[in-house]
Amino acid sequence: MTEPSDVHATRAAYNTVAADYAGLLRNELDTKPFDRAMLGTFAELVRSSGGRAVADIGCGPGRITAYLNSLGLAAFGIDLSPEMVAVARRDHPGLQFGIGTMEALEITDGTLDGIVAWYSIIHTPPARLPRVFAEFNRTLLDGGLVLLAFQAGDGPRHLDFAYGHEIDLDAYRLQPERISELLVQAGLVVEAQLLREPDGKYEKTRQAYLLARKPAAA
Ligand SMILES: C[S@@+](CC[C@H](N)C(=O)[O-])C[C@H]1O[C@@H](n2cnc3c(N)ncnc32)[C@H](O)[C@@H]1O
Repeated sequence: MTEPSDVHATRAAYNTVAADYAGLLRNELDTKPFDRAMLGTFAELVRSSGGRAVADIGCGPGRITAYLNSLGLAAFGIDLSPEMVAVARRDHPGLQFGIGTMEALEITDGTLDGIVAWYSIIHTPPARLPRVFAEFNRTLLDGGLVLLAFQAGDGPRHLDFAYGHEIDLDAYRLQPERISELLVQAGLVVEAQLLREPDGKYEKTRQAYLLARKPAAA
């Protein structure tokens, strides 16, 4: 199948910024207590159901993958950008990272205890998100969890400069209510949501976090 042009552009942009993105965000979680709280709650819920197998989808340089492992999970990363995957392998040599797309995961049905997509659904045109969430539902075990983080708001914006580089990248701010609806349509149940104010430094909009579960089979 022909790859949509936005996928090509997203891969190219993150290939360009990978090393600098990793350097700039390496310690970012230290300054984000709500982010750590959501990731910590996700990890606790996955562990309490007896699971550990978690995919960090759109993992970038692997900082979230590493954090999830530090919380007792067996997390591995997948990313569209080969340069991001190379940086992740360099920075976290003990962890597993692979190249792939969230729109067609090379993961067997019903094998994951959890999925984290941390600011990674934001480059997929919203009309194609139902397919992404169908992939999440397909690959999760019954009772498995999904955690999403994204910038709340409306509409696309174009980035022509980021992380010290000229790029050509679209990003979408998303309405949490709409994303919740799409998760439900994919067969998931939304269990928690957090909407927090921007940090006043780098963030310009509210930040949204959604936690959803694949229901146990009837
Ligand atoms: C803003 S970065 C976030 C990276 C990482 N989750 C973090 O928080 O540091 C977005 C990442 O999503 C990846 N990405 C975008 N679309 C993707 C797709 N369709 N499948 C897999 N990864 C994707 C990009 O290559 C990029 O590394």
